[in-house]
Amino acid sequence: MKTILLPLLLTLLPQSLSLPLTNLHNRGISTPLSCSKVNIIEQGTAPWSLQRISGTAPVTQNGRPTTELSYKYRFTELEDGEGVEVYIVDTGIDVDHPEFGKRARNAISTFDDDLEENSGHGTQIAGAIGSLSYGVAKNVSLVGIKVFSPLFDTKNPTALISNITSGIESAILLHNARRAAKNFKGSIMNLGFGFPKEIFDAAGKKVSDEFKKMLQKAIDDGMHVTIAAGDRGRDACTDFPAGFVKDIPALIVVGATDVFDKRLQTADFGPCIDIHAPGVDIVSTTLRGVNGGVKVDSGTFLSAGIVTGVIAGEMGKNRNLRTDPVGMKRLVKDKALKGILRGVEGGGDLLVYSGMPGNPIEEFV
Ligand SMILES: *[C@@H]1O[C@H](CO)[C@@H](O)[C@H](O)[C@H]1NC(C)=O
Ligand SMILES: *[C@@H]1O[C@H](CO)[C@@H](O)[C@H](O)[C@H]1NC(C)=O
Repeated sequence: MKTILLPLLLTLLPQSLSLPLTNLHNRGISTPLSCSKVNIIEQGTAPWSLQRISGTAPVTQNGRPTTELSYKYRFTELEDGEGVEVYIVDTGIDVDHPEFGKRARNAISTFDDDLEENSGHGTQIAGAIGSLSYGVAKNVSLVGIKVFSPLFDTKNPTALISNITSGIESAILLHNARRAAKNFKGSIMNLGFGFPKEIFDAAGKKVSDEFKKMLQKAIDDGMHVTIAAGDRGRDACTDFPAGFVKDIPALIVVGATDVFDKRLQTADFGPCIDIHAPGVDIVSTTLRGVNGGVKVDSGTFLSAGIVTGVIAGEMGKNRNLRTDPVGMKRLVKDKALKGILRGVEGGGDLLVYSGMPGNPIEEFV
């Protein structure tokens, strides 16, 4: 695994490969643009995950390791997530990481005054969503909501869950404060964690109900909410917050698949999964001081981040869905690739897809 940050090479494809608007309409994508062409941008230095979500065909490795940054990601400028805010409820973000430009900030910590990210987990999620080299939406705004104390105190589930609830509430307040602004383009809340139902039970019914109510409020207030399915290799309905989708159907619960379109063995499965996204050998950012700021990892927390990035992209193409989490979830599921995954018999046989027509041109020598 290379530890250096590879420069991002973006190529504008020849005009002949541009996407005629009629084509976009045929695919059920509405776009407010009045010009006749939307340029397709190709990143030839992408992780496999970005090629997978922007084409219909499985990734051909041709001898390359999954971690090589030589896969091809195609997207349009409409899909760069510019102006969309993503609230990452996690460990904070290493906001000065060069991969984020000036687009990342930490808004709040719910358990101390220290906004600094010192785990790397939140930075991995932020990187999968919106870093320049590894992210889906390369111009999105990334907001850290720090809710996990370094002690990660599952021995005190009441404090743990109420810290998360209070972080979610902060994100809703930030979203609502922006909503009236002229340049408002929508908000996504990303929950890249899951705890066994038992932890919520131990926190007490009141604490657990408050958490659930706060998620419902986020939806009611027009936020999109993506949730990692969980990584216990069990029914996602038994891990929370994923399991809350039974009561709050607008939540989007994301499972993990590998380069062969097969479910990650350790990822949660079952009827509470809405959709799958790449979640194995995902190259992303981590703390700048660790391994050159790059980390390869697997888990549904990364898959959820990828779906968050896809939704940020959809905000640019579907203005009418910016504050409509139900409509957005329907669109993302409608566009997903169906019937191609393995190991997902229990539910969620959908692979997230940006809708970019066709596949990149591969030239192997
Ligand atoms: C991101 O958006 C800003 C504001 O519209 C724009 O000035 C900038 O060029 C964009 N950056 C990229 C990398 O697209
Ligand atoms: C958050 O967690 C800290 C440390 O565990 C605890 O002292 C505090 O009371 C919690 N805050 C809330 C709002 O529950």
